[in-house]
Amino acid sequence: MTDFPPSAPDAQDPVTALACGMPKAELHIHIEGSLEPELVFALAEKNRVPLPYASVEALRAAYRFDDLQSFLNLYYACADVLRQEEDFYRMGLAYLERARADNVIHAEIFFDPQTHTARGIPLATVLQGLKRAQAEGEKLGVSSRLILCFLRHLSEEEGLATLEAALPYLDQIDGVGLDSSEVGHPPGKFTRLFAKCRELGLSTVAHAGEEGPAAYVWGALDLLQVKRIDHGVRAMEDPALVARLVKEKVPLTVCPLSNVKLRVFPDMAAHNLPQLLQAGLMVTVNSDDPAYFGGYMNANIRAVQAACHLSARDWYQLGKNSFDASWLTPETRRAYLARLDDYFRSQGYGGEIPSQS
Ligand code: ADE
Ligand code: ZN
Repeated sequence: MTDFPPSAPDAQDPVTALACGMPKAELHIHIEGSLEPELVFALAEKNRVPLPYASVEALRAAYRFDDLQSFLNLYYACADVLRQEEDFYRMGLAYLERARADNVIHAEIFFDPQTHTARGIPLATVLQGLKRAQAEGEKLGVSSRLILCFLRHLSEEEGLATLEAALPYLDQIDGVGLDSSEVGHPPGKFTRLFAKCRELGLSTVAHAGEEGPAAYVWGALDLLQVKRIDHGVRAMEDPALVARLVKEKVPLTVCPLSNVKLRVFPDMAAHNLPQLLQAGLMVTVNSDDPAYFGGYMNANIRAVQAACHLSARDWYQLGKNSFDASWLTPETRRAYLARLDDYFRSQGYGGEIPSQS
């Protein structure tokens, strides 16, 4: 088992160190997007899967993307090395170790079953590996949930078949999501599928307003009745939508490094996270596909802080939002929020919320 050291806080900026050190939840992480090039190569060798890259360095050098689709092409190609339960276990545990190193104490993790079942890997293999990793994560002090994501470039019928195949495993699945190529695949394509999921008692989330327009966020709310919007940064283009998201306290799981790598924003200074916060939206910070986008939770925090200069109060709010937006039980949520408050007090911030930056 690899032990990742805690990330070095930025000695130049106490607010960065404060935010990196705070206990927090991660609500938008694709486990297949945590597959580091080293593990891609190790699994390719073990499973005798040919790779079109000569080395780890050559693969890493290919991590330059023009848009979401150019990233997804590589992401699905690399996922082909995942063949056995052990592979899913190693990938899941590596993520949870990195989460712990960044003081993430709770993670709600996406996985893409169709990426694996289409290659003949049984859903049971995927879930058994991830379940074992989750049990190890608990021992490390990181609780977790699993969110089954449907691939929106596939049909609703294929999603319904995937749901049917998942029925024996619903005790391991806390909710469902919608990911993959957004533009051209609006939420309304999956209305029946999400209604079935809700009937089964599953919570629902969907990627919307990443590359797609604000109309897709309306669709996710009205047609899919989601509990959270993944990304949602383009909601800012529609003031009526912002007002609704604020009023209904709908969380947005924002992924800053991802948005810059996939050119949703030209650079971090242009990211609208400060405006989203200012508007009173329930925003959280997340890593999306950390192996591909330049880092895990605290790398996102460092990049945001270097460009956007948020206050200690903002980071407290982001930490609090991460637990409030989670699917923790009320009792555990209260306990985790108390840890957050204790942490801020231990750092010299009296009262519940830091009063200044
Ligand atoms: N699958 C993995 N990462 C994704 C992202 N950022 N958007 C949509 N689908 C994804
Ligand atoms: Zn995502």
